Amino acid sequence: MTTTILYVCVTCRGNPAAADDAPRPGARLLAAVEQRLGAGGDKGIAVVPANCLSNCPRGCSAAVSASGKWTYVIGDLDPDRHAGDVVDFARQHRAHAEGVPEWRERPEHVRKHTIARVPPVKPAAPSPSAPSQEQP
Ligand code: FES
Repeated sequence: MTTTILYVCVTCRGNPAAADDAPRPGARLLAAVEQRLGAGGDKGIAVVPANCLSNCPRGCSAAVSASGKWTYVIGDLDPDRHAGDVVDFARQHRAHAEGVPEWRERPEHVRKHTIARVPPVKPAAPSPSAPSQEQP
């Protein structure tokens, strides 16, 4: 089974925005997610910090992705309340062959605050007119 990547934006300031001298809510969300995953012993989910997922007005933000599966961007995340929802959704995404967990079974926050979903990348079919190999 392919590794599921859980991206967490560490530059999110939250909504309302945190003070400049306060720890970034996105960084706090990353720590909370890592703590949850570590406690659960999940081996197939990799947490990767990201610098902006282009969802700033609705941060904090995270995204769940895996090779050959749909990608989801989730917003409006509160680091004190939603780390468990993100981890649970990543587990559901990992368990589903196409990365499309049953909608009703997704955590409520994920159902209501999915910003976007992106289809899996498919390998490009070779063009019939293109040479199959580089010509010397
Ligand atoms: S800073 Fe987090 S989405 Fe832009």
